[in-house]
This record gives sequence, C-alpha cells and structure tokens, in this order.
Amino acid sequence: MEDNKLLASFQQEITTAWSFPERGKWATHNPKYRGNFAPQIPRNIILKYSNEGDFVLDPMVGAGTTLIEAKLLHRNADGIDINPEAVQISQKALEFEYKTKSKQNVLVGDARNLFRKPKKDENKSRIKYSSFNELFAM
Ligand SMILES: C[S@@+](CC[C@H](N)C(=O)[O-])C[C@H]1O[C@@H](n2cnc3c(N)ncnc32)[C@H](O)[C@@H]1O
Repeated sequence: MEDNKLLASFQQEITTAWSFPERGKWATHNPKYRGNFAPQIPRNIILKYSNEGDFVLDPMVGAGTTLIEAKLLHRNADGIDINPEAVQISQKALEFEYKTKSKQNVLVGDARNLFRKPKKDENKSRIKYSSFNELFAM
C-alpha cells in the first residue's frame, strides 16, 4: 500500500492483541535500525496515553520511531540514546517538513541515570520532565 494510504488507514487498536499486516513506512520511518518499532506501536501508545502538546520521553530512542510519531501527532518529545550514532540517525529522521508547534529533541545519554538519586551536595528538587537539561541537571 502507498505510504500515505497506509497512514490514512491506521486505526487505533482497541484490544490487547495488536496486528499490523503491513509495517508503517510513512514520513521518514526506516525499518533498518536493529530492533526498531513498527510505527504503529508508538502511534497507538501515544494516542492512548497523551494529548496534543503533551510531553513524551523515549529513553532508548534508537532510530527515532517514537519521536517521529510524536511529531506527527503534535506531542513534544525528548529521546535519548547511549549510542551517538542512534542519536544522529534520529535527529536526521526528524528533519522532515511538518506543520506542528511541538518540538522534539534527541541527545546522547544513559537511561540508567534518569532516576538516580542526587548526591549529597546536589540539589534534591524533584526532576521535572519538561526538558533534558532538567533531567540531567540532577
Ligand atoms: C531496540 S533499540 C530501540 C529502537 C527504537 N524503539 C526505535 O523504534 O527505533 C534499543 C536502543 O537502546 C539503546 N540503549 C541501550 N542501553 C541504553 C542505555 N542505558 N541508555 C540509553 N540508551 C540505551 C541502544 O543504543 C539502542 O539504540
């Protein structure tokens, strides 16, 4: 099926058994990154659990599937990956024309540090999930 028709025919899953007879390949999605999602997976989850303008975090962003869907669905999103090559791939994948006020950022980082306890002399204020600077400021 043509990419745009495939996207237009997308229907949100309403049961626990999900089936995607054809992998989504709209926008800049590319199945080549090892282990990456079919875009229907993050699309379903984003639609189910967030609204336009909300913030999505993908702490293991890989090739950026979740952030591409976040952009298409007008969600702000941050993605991190420990592999700088993945970060480059994601950043490139997000460079497509699309009218949205939402913003997506991708940075190199280690997901294991997202929730680490502050050290004794660090600011112990709660992490706010609105930007990476705040996430990694701890
Ligand atoms: C299967 S891929 C994710 C694919 C992604 N869902 C997509 O659709 O493109 C897993 C990613 O997690 C990253 N990763 C593994 N350990 C990590 C860590 N501790 N912190 C951040 N990223 C990590 C890997 O570099 C890899 O890119």
